[in-house]
Amino acid sequence: MATAHYKTPSPYKIERPSAPEEDYLYTRFANDVTLKTENGGNNKIIGMALFGAGRAGTFHLRSLVQNPRVNLLYVVEDLKSKWEDIKKYWHIENTKLLSSKDQEQVFKDPRVDAVIVASPTFTHEAIVTGALLHGKDVFCEKPIAENNTNTENCFRIAREKNQHLFCAFNKRFDPSYRHVKERVRAGEVGHVQMIKISSKSSPLASLEYLKTSGGIFHDSIVHDIDVMCWVLGEYPSRVAACAQAHIPEIAAIGDHDTAALMFTFPSGTMGILDWSRYSCYGYDQRLEVFGPRGIIMCENERPLSGIKSQTKGLEGPICVPNYYTFSSRYCTAYANEMEHFLDVLQGKAEMATRGPEAMAVIRIATACEESARTGYFVDMEWGPEFDERGS
Ligand SMILES: NC(=O)c1ccc[n+]([C@@H]2O[C@H](COP(=O)([O-])OP(=O)(O)OC[C@H]3O[C@@H](n4cnc5c(N)ncnc54)[C@H](O)[C@@H]3O)[C@@H](O)[C@H]2O)c1
Repeated sequence: MATAHYKTPSPYKIERPSAPEEDYLYTRFANDVTLKTENGGNNKIIGMALFGAGRAGTFHLRSLVQNPRVNLLYVVEDLKSKWEDIKKYWHIENTKLLSSKDQEQVFKDPRVDAVIVASPTFTHEAIVTGALLHGKDVFCEKPIAENNTNTENCFRIAREKNQHLFCAFNKRFDPSYRHVKERVRAGEVGHVQMIKISSKSSPLASLEYLKTSGGIFHDSIVHDIDVMCWVLGEYPSRVAACAQAHIPEIAAIGDHDTAALMFTFPSGTMGILDWSRYSCYGYDQRLEVFGPRGIIMCENERPLSGIKSQTKGLEGPICVPNYYTFSSRYCTAYANEMEHFLDVLQGKAEMATRGPEAMAVIRIATACEESARTGYFVDMEWGPEFDERGS
């Protein structure tokens, strides 16, 4: 009785609240249910070829085989022993499997509009240039090539051929990271004084992978350098890094497993980044942006949420473990980046990662590597060619 005067009209009588923007899964569902086709551009089915069906290739394969916008014409994979199982598992009976010695077939096939490059790093450049020169658009796992000059050359060919060359910085497509970036860019914390990224990988990558990975700075830290510059919208004027190999097998191949990096940006913002190849407690990914008006943090996401319990002998919240690895933590980001690439190819979106940004990130990674080697700060200058930015 005491609360009766708080009674509100029936929810049927008032306007139905719409889904919050943050519920990105609902947005996708609503588009599916309403068969939303109008988003500008065209709805041409895109003929595709995937290079590499290992770890990265597999999460892209999942995005491609389920995708109504894609006709997956080829999978190029050098391990022939996997071919039958790939066909059977993904039900891609009409997709042709090839080994890389026959990759010209893909480049010369006019039905192929675009290629996805998820093969080992040392193979990227040849596939990227081969595809671009034959008029294909390219989605490439980072790094595009093994050094700055060759990467610049790939982007030059893309420009000359008027083809898209998309560097897959997947973390930009993570809904939580994007949410943080948008709030920071809207000025919610004011002029950013400090940005911090903690990134610790799990499980420990195999030594076979690490030997051809290009090293911790170019293989892994690049992703977080990209996130930092993307959130802030500027590139550092000074970097400093130190790196260690705590794991003897990683020391033996001349790489590092742990790094601490510091960045100074032209506006005065400072950046701190810590990175490890091996976190025993799962994949640890955190982002924090601090300014005079407050702080915005993105803590670790976990596979289960909302769980609390009180059972015999166990009371209080039980901490659910972190995601085990990148393929689960960034599952949505990988799917989103592929959808974005398809939007670009169908003329529905502008490419979110631009060539100059990929080049900038590589330059910064190289400067960090130099700082770790020499023990000195490295100053960086940015010409107008780096002004072009995506979203
Ligand atoms: N964005 C990310 O989060 C992310 C995560 C993992 C890997 N990667 C990148 O993806 C690439 C592949 O890494 P991975 O971990 O999947 O490696 P992987 O070793 O698991 O898989 C590579 C696959 O490519 C095949 N292959 C070898 N040579 C080939 C060629 N010339 N053409 C086609 N296929 C070939 C191999 O047989 C293997 O199956 C690397 O460049 C890596 O940096 C990115």
